[in-house]
Amino acid sequence: MTTFGRFDDAAREYVITRPDTPLPWINYLGSEDYFGIISNTAGGYSFFRDARLRRLTRYRYNNAPFDMGGRYLYVRDSASGEMWSPSWQPVRAELEDYRCRHGLGYTVIGGCRAGIDTETLYFVPLGETLEIWRTRITNRRAEAADLSLFSAVEFCLWDASDDATNFQRNFSIGEVEVDDGVIYHKTEYRERRNHFAYFACSAQLAGFDTQRDAFLGPYRGWERPLVAESGRSGDSIAHGWAPCGSHHVELSLHPGETREVIFVLGYWENPTGEKFDPSGSQTINKTRVRPVIDRFRNAGAVDAAFQRLRDHWESLLDTLHVTTPSEHLDRMVNIWNAYQCMITFNLSRSASSFESGIGRGMGFRDSNQDLLGLVHMVPDRARGRILDIAATQLPSGGAYHQYQPLTKTGNDAVGSGFNDDPLWLIVAVAAYVKETGDRRILDELVPYDNEPGSESSLYEHLLRSMRYTLDRLGPHGLPLIGRADWNDCLNLNCFSETPGESFQTTENRQGGVAESVFIAGLFTLAAGELATMAEVHGHRHDAAACLDARRTMDAAVRAHGWDGAWFRRAYDYFGNPVGSAGNQEGKIFIEPQGMCVLAGIGVDDGKAEAALSSVEAHLATPHGIVLQQPAYTRYHVELGEISTYPPGYKENAGVFCHTNPWITIAETLVGHGDRALDYYLRINPSAREAISHQHRCEPYVYPQMIAGKDAPTHGEAKNSWLTGSAAWNFVAATQWILGIRPDHDGLRIDPCLPADWDGFTATRRFRGARYHITVRKSGGLQGRLTNLVVDGQRIHGNLLPPVPRGATVTVEAEIQGQT
Ligand code: GLC
Ligand code: GLC
Repeated sequence: MTTFGRFDDAAREYVITRPDTPLPWINYLGSEDYFGIISNTAGGYSFFRDARLRRLTRYRYNNAPFDMGGRYLYVRDSASGEMWSPSWQPVRAELEDYRCRHGLGYTVIGGCRAGIDTETLYFVPLGETLEIWRTRITNRRAEAADLSLFSAVEFCLWDASDDATNFQRNFSIGEVEVDDGVIYHKTEYRERRNHFAYFACSAQLAGFDTQRDAFLGPYRGWERPLVAESGRSGDSIAHGWAPCGSHHVELSLHPGETREVIFVLGYWENPTGEKFDPSGSQTINKTRVRPVIDRFRNAGAVDAAFQRLRDHWESLLDTLHVTTPSEHLDRMVNIWNAYQCMITFNLSRSASSFESGIGRGMGFRDSNQDLLGLVHMVPDRARGRILDIAATQLPSGGAYHQYQPLTKTGNDAVGSGFNDDPLWLIVAVAAYVKETGDRRILDELVPYDNEPGSESSLYEHLLRSMRYTLDRLGPHGLPLIGRADWNDCLNLNCFSETPGESFQTTENRQGGVAESVFIAGLFTLAAGELATMAEVHGHRHDAAACLDARRTMDAAVRAHGWDGAWFRRAYDYFGNPVGSAGNQEGKIFIEPQGMCVLAGIGVDDGKAEAALSSVEAHLATPHGIVLQQPAYTRYHVELGEISTYPPGYKENAGVFCHTNPWITIAETLVGHGDRALDYYLRINPSAREAISHQHRCEPYVYPQMIAGKDAPTHGEAKNSWLTGSAAWNFVAATQWILGIRPDHDGLRIDPCLPADWDGFTATRRFRGARYHITVRKSGGLQGRLTNLVVDGQRIHGNLLPPVPRGATVTVEAEIQGQT
């Protein structure tokens, strides 16, 4: 077994101790307008707001080695002529004491070679559109050292997609300026852009380069730049080709001496009328950006900005802190899962090692579900996001499947017709209102399809979401599936025979009756949520109608969605069951077992328990619960993309970490604390750290998928970071296993613990008050809450009554175990 690092919980860091991780293990910089991806060997790229349209630095896709293009440094020892990278890549010369510490919003990478230790802190200061690289270089030798330090970035010509394809134009448009040691990248600034990038350095320069091929030299790559090897910069000025930025700093260090060099890579926009100085020239007007650059070339300003960043994350994570018998649960809930929820919220599905930054917009269902994991940390931002999403809803109640982050409007190319989409808005709004108590959001006026004049209350939007489903029921009274439901790859109206055709946006056959039991479950859940919101909002009549619709749907699921030992998945175009014992492949699916039980269907009559036993018998593996069984071994034209993946991958019987927590929650609903925690831990990244060589993705964040048991690579993860797995696993652990669950009238305490726990403690901020919660249970037994004492007084039920903002509340909960 090979280990690549360890958790440092006190510092809230993951420490990587060898550079050759199975895949680049990345982190994110920035959480407002300026973002970057950074790997453990300093690979990655930066962008302003939109990873496709405002890309600052270039990254090579699909590359070997995987991770090429980054924030690189080269150290050259003048005496020996030797040259290396303190982040190992791109030179890959051996380092002693290599370390990468990924923290919350920052990364530190360093290593020592020939007695020269170099360590760089990378981060984006709050409120700025720039990133800092603070390099400390120490001479550990007994004698003085003469060194050269070279920085290197390659600029992207803004539109990352065009940059990777349109060479006939792009090889001619690159432009830079170098002024007072600052490198400015200003391609297209002469025409319609009013933004530029800059790369500055705190030290006096011995030289610089801005033309990539002058820096690298002919037929050389980033691993052996001619300039860094020879120790002489070319002072090159890029005209076309590939603009880059490289500073050359010469350092003479006494034995034991440390020097600090700060690099600032940034993005700046000038007012359109003030682009040039002198006006009429083609020279960038630097009067506004200059003070910012000068400020951050100063060590004091950098230290202060870094401290602010750390305080910021500390206050976000302070919302919930738990201490339980499971270090894996604690570490994920207190640090990494919360962090991943924030990153997923910021980046949606745009930029990771698996999302190119030039592909997908923001998903309607994805963005709604992402909110579940972070309303407690950033309620105001969640509120804004809800209103943005709702404004893309169509008047029919339907939804664009995706919308674009820069314009916030629906994406016509992908369109609508994913019939689960609208219901997720109800789930997200319910979570927001329960967390904050802010019912006024329901009265906010929001347009449809961003059309001015079409506004109605958010509450009305939610009613239309429900109506959308009710207007589209099939012959069994179950919701029509449309193009797909949660499972993007279950395309029951597509019937595609044409290579390359999109399974998601093509409907080759009209008039079918494909229905989804999953949407029926989701509808039942959402109708219950909306009924309660209608009730607390004073709409009795609507509440009754929602409950009515809920009962009818529940009955339809019991009548036509039950297969005997589990819930069916769907009915296909012809009305044949999918996910039924009668099918040869795909007999049982995870999604309806999770969602129907979450909605409460079958909890009273044993169906829920039976469905969950079937999950355990047919779908559970040591690496998590697979999506369905048996996997599809051949292409089924009537099922679509699900049957295109090789068995065990992705939607074809992979472990989707997004759906596993639904089962975890379902297990708590039927009182199985042992199974709930067991499933939770099977995919918990920290618990899988010990098998990093097999899991391969980062051990500190959830992946979308782990290869299922039908794959030869069973247990190998893919698509880490930007996934709905983040939010749902957070919800499962905190609200259902630990049972600390916001509700409309207060905070509920309803844990479902495994037998071998004797309790846990937690602090939770909720609606301005702080709760100190202690839960005690006798070991050896599972069981539910029996006794709740709030500030010394015993109360009935499990709902903590409201308290004034600023209050501190002590909660003692006792669970009487049952066998
Ligand atoms: C991806 C999509 C998500 C979908 C899931 C299952 O994670 O982002 O919207 O629900 O795959 O297909
Ligand atoms: C592909 C992926 C699926 C994803 C979808 C989004 O079908 O396999 O996981 O949800 O693309 O467009």
